[in-house]
Amino acid sequence: MFFERHGGGERTILVHLDGQDPEAREDPQEFQELAISAGAETVAFVNVPRHRPTAKYLIGSGKVEELRDQVKAEKVDLVIFNSVLTPSQERNLERVFECRVIDRTGLILDIFAQRARTHEGKLQVELAQLDYMSTRLVRGWTHLERQKGGIGLRGPGETQLETDRRLLRVRLRQIKGRLEKVRSQRDQARRGRQRADIPSVSLVGYTNAGKSTLFNSVTDSDVFAADQLFATLDPTLRRLELADLGPIVLADTVGFIRHLPHKLVEAFRATLEESSNSDLLLHVIDAHEPERMAQIEQVMAVLGEIGAQDLPILEVYNKLDLLEGVEPQIQRDADGKPQRVWLSARDGQGLDLLKQAIAELLGDDLFVGTLRLPQRFARLRAQFFALGAVQKEEHDEEGICLLAVRLPRVELNRLVSREGMQPLEFIEQHTLQ
Ligand code: GTP
Repeated sequence: MFFERHGGGERTILVHLDGQDPEAREDPQEFQELAISAGAETVAFVNVPRHRPTAKYLIGSGKVEELRDQVKAEKVDLVIFNSVLTPSQERNLERVFECRVIDRTGLILDIFAQRARTHEGKLQVELAQLDYMSTRLVRGWTHLERQKGGIGLRGPGETQLETDRRLLRVRLRQIKGRLEKVRSQRDQARRGRQRADIPSVSLVGYTNAGKSTLFNSVTDSDVFAADQLFATLDPTLRRLELADLGPIVLADTVGFIRHLPHKLVEAFRATLEESSNSDLLLHVIDAHEPERMAQIEQVMAVLGEIGAQDLPILEVYNKLDLLEGVEPQIQRDADGKPQRVWLSARDGQGLDLLKQAIAELLGDDLFVGTLRLPQRFARLRAQFFALGAVQKEEHDEEGICLLAVRLPRVELNRLVSREGMQPLEFIEQHTLQ
């Protein structure tokens, strides 16, 4: 442990600062949900309506005294601020309250730490935590600058602070090294998929929109879905077959959130990269959420940060079962392209429409159909087989080969014109039984 701090506990006071600037203002409802997700038992929710930020405590000293009395009376273990505290503000408040104080970043980091499941996810969280700690170490821990002995921990004459910093650096280096390794393995796997020309589709969306539930019901798998924020921290990949299109890889990714601490976006870049390398993004939106427009904007902002804003996006309006009088449907843009699908991931209504819309969007550049190939095109037939493009082969009563193929349209045109056939001359777009 790098910090001698008052141990974190369960009994918690939530302090929400109601800023005047709507951009900086956090959502109090979401704050409470975050605290529940972290496992806090909220004994009081304190709204600080209007305040002039102070350097020492962020909030005015009168309010600090009020809170100190409440902390004592309610035997509170933890005070969480729904804003960003500087390390010294956090220290000053801890001294007055005599209990642990964390800010919004600390809270989100804590949830991330509890939820990460894969090796990579855990490393990423630890990296972000150490990074967060290191700023607190440098600025907030000068009072620890005193000599301390200890075997194998520090060199002669090293202060506690130097030791802490050195240990932190060593650990940071170790983690970065391990992450590099995991990432290069992931990159290899991704390149493998790209070579095999399997389109990849990523689920993105605000936390709690229903991505994991949708992932489960589409892939029939059992990814952890819970009414907790950030239930998904690691991308989970599944291969699935779509009629008329063939295999795709579907990735579930971490939920986005308003004012996601920048360090966390950095730390989870690898996870989010899964989205920025996709052929299609499914932006899952909680259709029942009153704040959904703000959430959509936040998601688009994070997509911009990871360079994924220009990828094709299909909006998935989820939780249709909670709305009155809305039917599962595909909404299309002026060109007739699917733009939005309304469905319920929980009860499965509209899942077939989603699959159809994905197939349409990804299949735009694909040819899926049957070629009629007389004997003299045996070489062309062999080339289709060599490309792995053949789905089925039959012969009609005249002995002519009927080849059901699936391949990029440009590739088809290239092969067909090389063989001296008029492009698409022998094509019948019907599916073999
Ligand atoms: P993060 O992991 O935080 O990003 O969340 P997520 O987007 O993966 O959400 P998740 O699938 O965990 O679902 C969040 C909550 O919404 C769970 O309680 C689900 O049961 C619920 N939910 C998901 N889909 C539906 C739906 O179609 N209808 C209803 N009523 N609830 C749903």
